[in-house]
Amino acid sequence: MNILIIGSGGREHSLAWKVAQSPLIDTLYVAPGNGGMGDIAKCVDINSSNHDEVVLFCREKNIEFVLIGPETPLVEGLSDRLIGEEIQTFGPNAAAAILEGSKGFTKDLCAKYNIPTAAYGRFKDAPSAKKFIRIKGAPIVIKADGLAAGKGVIIAETIQEAFEAVDDIFNGQFGAAGTELVIEEFLIGEEVSFFVLTDGKNILPFGTAQDHKRVGEGDIGPNTGGMGAYSPALVMDAAMQKRTINEIILPTVKGMAAEGTPFKGVLFAGLMITDKGPELIEYNVRFGDPECQCLMARLESDIVPILIACANGTINQVEAKWSDKVSLNVVMAANGYPGPYKKNSKIINLEQAGSANNIMIFHAGTKKIGHNILATGGRVLNITSLSNTVTEAKNDAYTALNQINWPEGFYRKDIGWRAVEHENKE
Ligand code: AMP
Ligand code: GLY
Repeated sequence: MNILIIGSGGREHSLAWKVAQSPLIDTLYVAPGNGGMGDIAKCVDINSSNHDEVVLFCREKNIEFVLIGPETPLVEGLSDRLIGEEIQTFGPNAAAAILEGSKGFTKDLCAKYNIPTAAYGRFKDAPSAKKFIRIKGAPIVIKADGLAAGKGVIIAETIQEAFEAVDDIFNGQFGAAGTELVIEEFLIGEEVSFFVLTDGKNILPFGTAQDHKRVGEGDIGPNTGGMGAYSPALVMDAAMQKRTINEIILPTVKGMAAEGTPFKGVLFAGLMITDKGPELIEYNVRFGDPECQCLMARLESDIVPILIACANGTINQVEAKWSDKVSLNVVMAANGYPGPYKKNSKIINLEQAGSANNIMIFHAGTKKIGHNILATGGRVLNITSLSNTVTEAKNDAYTALNQINWPEGFYRKDIGWRAVEHENKE
């Protein structure tokens, strides 16, 4: 069959890498793809916001299955349109993608179905938001309701900072995403990412990971899309996964179905493991980036039948087999990221760096011009390893990374540090 993947990040490169290994594939297309995908897929320059263009392409190329990577096309209803055209699609429709598209919606769903999450309020004006902050005190978390490319969350250490965040957001810092706010209690604990595939009714747990969102070593500095990750996450042992499924995931899947908006696709729960147990920080309606790169490195099963089962309501009939090894992914980003950065610098020696069997280099913001790979984005490369322990995986990833010659890029040197410390104690 012919498959089309929508997206251009490291997440989509790793998905394409895995899909391309399936014996079921004739031709794999990626729109728009990046500089690293040309060897495994045909990169096509179509605009995923133009649904007519996507449908036309699917008809011309006889595409039987579409895998949508990022949240924006999902929230924009690309899945609705494709399914309406009878093209099988992985990814929720717009009504269900609201789980990521509106933080307020998700909080209300949690309240209605008794799903553990931080206490919260929803606000459309600054005076009532500030009144709530005065009552609750600091630290407190201020969130723009809508999609803000992962930047719409401010953790305010003082009431003054919280007031400023409220004013900034209502003054348009995040555009339309900030016409409404969620303000919530600050949760203390260890953060993990938990992935579950669901066909709207049944679920298939699909791995755990821990990512590093802050730009600086020791997890300090501004938030980014993610500077690295490892999988599986140590704190998500079998018992914690079971609790999370029973207390958070299943009530969500049932709740969404009961609301008339069943969720089909990958449910990515951002969790805080607190003293009380797992609490939901947020849902994403797509795979995590860079968590997905770690999951794909560990997935042994053919992913294509699994994705198809998820889309056509038979997820209870498939299994996912995982490597017992640990995967770890280090992001190389352009100097300046998550702020402004320069484009079009040259990256040298990628082939040599990625030559070991257990190393996969997934591209994100790159383009290929002739034989040269140029950096074009904030997050640019994902150096991913598969090894016996987190310590080994970390060493292997950095050994590969150190062979890359790209002075205009930087990376964190401490990815996986919590798990490495834990292993050293054993
Ligand atoms: P989000 O975009 O909702 O994932 O938030 C970005 C980051 O802010 C999360 O990954 C957490 O590290 C942090 N965060 C969000 N909400 C809370 C909360 N209620 N308590 C503590 N940290 C939070
Ligand atoms: N790495 C976190 C995310 O994809 O949102």
